Amino acid sequence: MIKQAIIPLAGLGTRLLPLTSVFAKELLPINGKPGIEYILDECIEAGIKEIIFIISKKKKMIKNYFYNDYFYEKIIKKKKDPRIIKEYKKILKYKKMIKFVYQNKPLGTGDAVLKTKKYIKDSFFLMLLPDDLIINHNCSKSMIYTHQKYKSSVIASMSVKKKNVSRWGIFKLKKKLDRKNFLIRDVIEKPKVINAPSNKAVIGRYILPKSIFFKLAKQKPGKGGEVHITDAIQSLIYENNNFIAHNFTGKYLDCGSMEGYIKSTLEIAKS
Ligand code: UTP
Repeated sequence: MIKQAIIPLAGLGTRLLPLTSVFAKELLPINGKPGIEYILDECIEAGIKEIIFIISKKKKMIKNYFYNDYFYEKIIKKKKDPRIIKEYKKILKYKKMIKFVYQNKPLGTGDAVLKTKKYIKDSFFLMLLPDDLIINHNCSKSMIYTHQKYKSSVIASMSVKKKNVSRWGIFKLKKKLDRKNFLIRDVIEKPKVINAPSNKAVIGRYILPKSIFFKLAKQKPGKGGEVHITDAIQSLIYENNNFIAHNFTGKYLDCGSMEGYIKSTLEIAKS
Protein backbone atom coordinates (compact mmCIF):
# COMPACT_ATOMS: atom_id res chain seq x y z
CA MET A 1 0.00 0.00 0.00
CA ILE A 2 1.05 3.60 -0.62
CA LYS A 3 0.90 5.39 2.73
CA GLN A 4 3.13 8.43 2.25
CA ALA A 5 2.73 11.42 -0.05
CA ILE A 6 5.07 14.31 -0.75
CA ILE A 7 4.06 17.76 -1.98
CA PRO A 8 6.66 20.20 -3.36
CA LEU A 9 5.64 23.74 -2.35
CA ALA A 10 8.96 25.59 -2.45
CA GLY A 11 8.58 27.18 -5.91
CA LEU A 12 8.30 30.94 -6.44
CA GLY A 13 4.89 31.06 -8.12
CA THR A 14 5.98 33.79 -10.55
CA ARG A 15 3.13 33.08 -12.98
CA LEU A 16 0.66 34.17 -10.31
CA LEU A 17 2.31 37.51 -9.52
CA PRO A 18 1.21 39.89 -8.03
CA LEU A 19 -0.90 37.47 -5.92
CA THR A 20 2.23 35.59 -4.83
CA SER A 21 4.53 38.50 -4.02
CA VAL A 22 3.85 38.09 -0.27
CA PHE A 23 1.39 35.18 -0.25
CA ALA A 24 1.88 31.43 -0.83
CA LYS A 25 -0.08 30.43 -3.95
CA GLU A 26 -1.16 27.15 -2.33
CA LEU A 27 -3.12 29.10 0.31
CA LEU A 28 -4.95 31.22 -2.27
CA PRO A 29 -8.68 30.51 -2.07
CA ILE A 30 -10.39 28.46 -4.73
CA ASN A 31 -14.14 28.68 -4.26
CA GLY A 32 -13.68 29.68 -0.61
CA LYS A 33 -11.07 27.07 0.36
CA PRO A 34 -7.26 27.18 0.15
CA GLY A 35 -6.09 25.24 -2.91
CA ILE A 36 -3.83 22.98 -0.81
CA GLU A 37 -6.84 21.62 1.11
CA TYR A 38 -8.24 20.07 -2.09
CA ILE A 39 -4.92 18.24 -2.47
CA LEU A 40 -4.93 17.11 1.19
CA ASP A 41 -8.50 15.85 0.91
CA GLU A 42 -7.57 13.87 -2.21
CA CYS A 43 -4.66 12.26 -0.29
CA ILE A 44 -6.77 11.40 2.76
CA GLU A 45 -9.54 9.88 0.64
CA ALA A 46 -6.91 7.82 -1.20
CA GLY A 47 -5.73 6.28 2.11
CA ILE A 48 -2.53 8.32 2.61
CA LYS A 49 -1.45 8.47 6.27
CA GLU A 50 1.52 10.84 6.18
CA ILE A 51 2.18 13.87 3.98
CA ILE A 52 5.53 15.59 3.61
CA PHE A 53 5.45 19.24 2.58
CA ILE A 54 8.59 20.66 0.98
CA ILE A 55 8.50 24.37 1.77
CA SER A 56 11.04 27.20 1.98
CA LYS A 57 11.65 29.91 4.58
CA LYS A 58 9.82 32.30 2.25
CA LYS A 59 6.78 30.04 2.39
CA LYS A 60 6.74 29.56 6.17
CA MET A 61 3.16 30.90 6.16
CA ILE A 62 2.08 27.45 4.93
CA LYS A 63 3.36 25.89 8.17
CA ASN A 64 1.80 28.73 10.19
CA TYR A 65 -1.56 27.99 8.57
CA PHE A 66 -1.53 24.43 9.93
CA TYR A 67 -0.03 25.37 13.32
CA ASN A 68 -2.52 28.08 14.22
CA ASP A 69 -4.73 25.94 16.48
CA TYR A 70 -4.13 28.27 19.48
CA PHE A 71 -5.75 31.11 17.54
CA TYR A 72 -8.83 28.93 16.86
CA GLU A 73 -9.01 27.82 20.51
CA LYS A 74 -9.09 31.45 21.70
CA ILE A 75 -11.89 32.32 19.28
CA ILE A 76 -13.91 29.18 20.06
CA LYS A 77 -13.77 29.99 23.81
CA LYS A 78 -15.40 33.37 23.07
CA LYS A 79 -17.98 32.23 20.53
CA LYS A 80 -19.04 28.69 19.89
CA ASP A 81 -19.59 29.04 16.16
CA PRO A 82 -20.07 25.48 14.79
CA ARG A 83 -18.49 26.46 11.48
CA ILE A 84 -15.29 27.64 13.21
CA ILE A 85 -15.23 24.49 15.39
CA LYS A 86 -15.49 22.38 12.23
CA GLU A 87 -12.65 24.29 10.56
CA TYR A 88 -10.53 23.94 13.73
CA LYS A 89 -11.02 20.16 13.80
CA LYS A 90 -10.13 19.95 10.14
CA ILE A 91 -6.89 21.91 10.67
CA LEU A 92 -5.96 19.65 13.63
CA LYS A 93 -6.54 16.58 11.48
CA TYR A 94 -4.31 17.94 8.70
CA LYS A 95 -1.62 19.05 11.20
CA LYS A 96 -1.30 15.54 12.62
CA MET A 97 -0.53 14.15 9.17
CA ILE A 98 1.91 16.74 7.86
CA LYS A 99 5.71 16.87 8.23
CA PHE A 100 7.73 19.80 6.89
CA VAL A 101 11.09 19.74 5.15
CA TYR A 102 12.89 22.73 3.68
CA GLN A 103 14.26 23.55 0.26
CA ASN A 104 15.44 27.13 0.64
CA LYS A 105 16.77 27.51 -2.90
CA PRO A 106 14.32 26.59 -5.70
CA LEU A 107 16.75 24.41 -7.63
CA GLY A 108 14.00 22.37 -9.29
CA THR A 109 11.37 19.71 -8.55
CA GLY A 110 13.99 16.93 -8.48
CA ASP A 111 16.01 18.78 -5.85
CA ALA A 112 12.79 19.33 -3.84
CA VAL A 113 11.98 15.60 -3.94
CA LEU A 114 15.52 14.72 -2.79
CA LYS A 115 14.91 16.66 0.45
CA THR A 116 12.38 14.02 1.54
CA LYS A 117 14.79 11.09 1.14
CA LYS A 118 15.27 10.22 4.80
CA TYR A 119 11.54 10.32 5.57
CA ILE A 120 10.34 7.83 2.94
CA LYS A 121 9.79 4.42 4.52
CA ASP A 122 8.22 2.21 1.84
CA SER A 123 9.45 1.26 -1.61
CA PHE A 124 6.92 3.55 -3.37
CA PHE A 125 5.39 6.92 -2.50
CA LEU A 126 2.92 9.37 -4.02
CA MET A 127 3.87 12.85 -5.21
CA LEU A 128 1.31 15.54 -5.98
CA LEU A 129 1.99 18.90 -7.59
CA PRO A 130 -0.38 21.32 -5.90
CA ASP A 131 -0.93 23.51 -8.98
CA ASP A 132 -2.69 20.60 -10.66
CA LEU A 133 -6.17 20.12 -9.25
CA ILE A 134 -8.19 17.18 -10.45
CA ILE A 135 -11.85 17.34 -9.52
CA ASN A 136 -14.87 15.01 -9.81
CA HIS A 137 -12.74 11.87 -9.44
CA ASN A 138 -9.93 10.92 -7.04
CA CYS A 139 -6.94 10.57 -9.35
CA SER A 140 -4.52 9.47 -6.56
CA LYS A 141 -6.89 6.72 -5.52
CA SER A 142 -7.17 5.26 -9.01
CA MET A 143 -3.38 5.53 -9.48
CA ILE A 144 -2.82 3.60 -6.24
CA TYR A 145 -5.18 0.94 -7.57
CA THR A 146 -3.15 0.78 -10.83
CA HIS A 147 0.10 0.57 -8.84
CA GLN A 148 -1.22 -2.37 -6.84
CA LYS A 149 -2.45 -4.14 -9.95
CA TYR A 150 0.79 -3.81 -11.97
CA LYS A 151 3.37 -3.37 -9.12
CA SER A 152 4.80 -0.46 -11.03
CA SER A 153 5.40 3.29 -10.90
CA VAL A 154 2.51 5.38 -12.25
CA ILE A 155 2.18 8.91 -13.69
CA ALA A 156 -1.12 10.70 -14.33
CA SER A 157 -1.79 11.31 -17.99
CA MET A 158 -4.31 13.35 -19.95
CA SER A 159 -4.98 13.64 -23.67
CA VAL A 160 -4.32 17.15 -24.91
CA LYS A 161 -4.95 18.77 -28.30
CA LYS A 162 -2.16 17.87 -30.72
CA LYS A 163 -1.56 21.57 -31.48
CA ASN A 164 -0.86 22.19 -27.73
CA VAL A 165 1.64 19.37 -27.05
CA SER A 166 4.59 21.78 -26.79
CA ARG A 167 3.21 23.11 -23.48
CA TRP A 168 3.57 19.72 -21.78
CA GLY A 169 5.74 16.74 -20.96
CA ILE A 170 4.58 14.16 -23.52
CA PHE A 171 4.71 10.39 -23.18
CA LYS A 172 6.13 8.06 -25.76
CA LEU A 173 4.11 4.91 -25.13
CA LYS A 174 5.30 1.33 -25.39
CA LYS A 175 2.24 -0.82 -24.92
CA LYS A 176 -1.43 -0.66 -23.90
CA LEU A 177 -2.05 -2.56 -20.65
CA ASP A 178 -5.78 -1.88 -20.38
CA ARG A 179 -8.33 0.83 -21.22
CA LYS A 180 -6.72 3.39 -18.89
CA ASN A 181 -3.09 2.30 -18.50
CA PHE A 182 -0.14 2.35 -20.89
CA LEU A 183 3.47 1.31 -20.37
CA ILE A 184 5.78 4.29 -20.99
CA ARG A 185 8.81 4.10 -23.29
CA ASP A 186 9.94 7.70 -22.72
CA VAL A 187 8.87 11.15 -21.51
CA ILE A 188 9.72 14.07 -23.77
CA GLU A 189 9.63 17.56 -22.29
CA LYS A 190 7.68 20.07 -24.40
CA PRO A 191 8.20 18.54 -27.88
CA LYS A 192 7.43 20.38 -31.11
CA VAL A 193 4.05 19.35 -32.62
CA ILE A 194 5.84 17.58 -35.45
CA ASN A 195 8.03 15.51 -33.09
CA ALA A 196 5.38 14.63 -30.48
CA PRO A 197 5.15 10.83 -30.13
CA SER A 198 1.58 11.03 -28.72
CA ASN A 199 -0.91 13.54 -27.35
CA LYS A 200 -0.75 12.10 -23.80
CA ALA A 201 0.59 14.71 -21.36
CA VAL A 202 2.12 14.39 -17.88
CA ILE A 203 -0.09 15.78 -15.09
CA GLY A 204 1.12 16.37 -11.51
CA ARG A 205 0.45 13.03 -9.81
CA TYR A 206 3.22 10.44 -9.59
CA ILE A 207 3.75 7.14 -7.80
CA LEU A 208 7.54 6.96 -7.60
CA PRO A 209 9.96 4.28 -6.46
CA LYS A 210 12.34 4.96 -3.59
CA SER A 211 15.21 4.20 -6.00
CA ILE A 212 14.60 7.62 -7.58
CA PHE A 213 16.58 9.19 -4.70
CA PHE A 214 19.79 7.50 -5.90
CA LYS A 215 19.24 8.98 -9.36
CA LEU A 216 18.45 12.43 -7.98
CA ALA A 217 21.51 12.47 -5.73
CA LYS A 218 23.77 12.06 -8.79
CA GLN A 219 21.76 14.13 -11.23
CA LYS A 220 23.20 17.26 -12.83
CA PRO A 221 20.92 20.27 -13.46
CA GLY A 222 19.04 20.05 -16.78
CA LYS A 223 16.93 22.55 -18.76
CA GLY A 224 16.94 26.05 -17.24
CA GLY A 225 19.65 25.02 -14.75
CA GLU A 226 17.13 23.10 -12.59
CA VAL A 227 17.15 19.49 -11.38
CA HIS A 228 13.99 18.06 -12.96
CA ILE A 229 12.12 15.04 -11.63
CA THR A 230 11.36 14.07 -15.26
CA ASP A 231 15.09 13.53 -15.95
CA ALA A 232 15.37 11.09 -13.03
CA ILE A 233 12.23 9.27 -14.23
CA GLN A 234 13.67 9.08 -17.73
CA SER A 235 16.89 7.44 -16.54
CA LEU A 236 14.90 4.89 -14.50
CA ILE A 237 12.82 4.05 -17.59
CA TYR A 238 16.02 3.60 -19.64
CA GLU A 239 17.17 1.08 -17.00
CA ASN A 240 14.00 -0.97 -17.60
CA ASN A 241 11.98 0.19 -14.61
CA ASN A 242 8.29 0.06 -15.48
CA PHE A 243 6.39 3.35 -15.47
CA ILE A 244 2.70 3.45 -16.40
CA ALA A 245 0.81 6.42 -17.86
CA HIS A 246 -2.61 6.40 -16.19
CA ASN A 247 -5.43 8.15 -18.08
CA PHE A 248 -7.45 9.61 -15.23
CA THR A 249 -11.18 10.28 -15.38
CA GLY A 250 -11.54 13.56 -13.40
CA LYS A 251 -11.43 17.14 -14.68
CA TYR A 252 -8.02 18.82 -14.67
CA LEU A 253 -7.66 22.43 -13.50
CA ASP A 254 -4.33 24.25 -13.95
CA CYS A 255 -4.15 26.55 -10.93
CA GLY A 256 -0.54 27.63 -11.51
CA SER A 257 -1.32 30.13 -14.28
CA MET A 258 -3.43 33.24 -13.76
CA GLU A 259 -6.01 32.27 -16.37
CA GLY A 260 -6.30 28.72 -14.96
CA TYR A 261 -6.44 29.93 -11.37
CA ILE A 262 -9.34 32.28 -12.13
CA LYS A 263 -11.20 29.58 -14.09
CA SER A 264 -10.71 26.99 -11.31
CA THR A 265 -13.05 28.77 -8.89
CA LEU A 266 -15.77 28.92 -11.55
CA GLU A 267 -15.28 25.24 -12.46
CA ILE A 268 -15.42 24.07 -8.83
CA ALA A 269 -18.44 26.27 -8.11
CA LYS A 270 -20.42 24.62 -10.92
CA SER A 271 -19.22 21.04 -10.25
P1 UTP B 1 6.48 25.04 -11.07
O1 UTP B 1 7.76 25.47 -11.67
O2 UTP B 1 5.37 24.64 -11.99
O3 UTP B 1 5.87 26.17 -10.13
O4 UTP B 1 6.77 23.88 -10.04
P2 UTP B 1 6.53 27.42 -9.42
O5 UTP B 1 7.99 27.43 -9.55
O6 UTP B 1 5.97 27.48 -8.04
O7 UTP B 1 5.80 28.59 -10.18
P3 UTP B 1 6.19 29.52 -11.42
O8 UTP B 1 6.52 28.61 -12.56
O9 UTP B 1 7.31 30.40 -10.97
O10 UTP B 1 4.92 30.27 -11.63
C1 UTP B 1 5.88 22.79 -9.84
C2 UTP B 1 5.77 22.53 -8.34
O11 UTP B 1 7.04 22.23 -7.79
C3 UTP B 1 7.35 23.09 -6.71
C4 UTP B 1 6.45 24.30 -6.88
O12 UTP B 1 6.17 24.88 -5.60
C5 UTP B 1 5.22 23.72 -7.54
O13 UTP B 1 4.33 23.21 -6.59
N1 UTP B 1 8.79 23.40 -6.77
C6 UTP B 1 9.34 23.86 -7.92
C7 UTP B 1 9.56 23.21 -5.64
O14 UTP B 1 9.07 22.79 -4.57
N2 UTP B 1 10.90 23.48 -5.72
C8 UTP B 1 11.48 23.94 -6.85
O15 UTP B 1 12.71 24.16 -6.84
C9 UTP B 1 10.69 24.11 -7.98
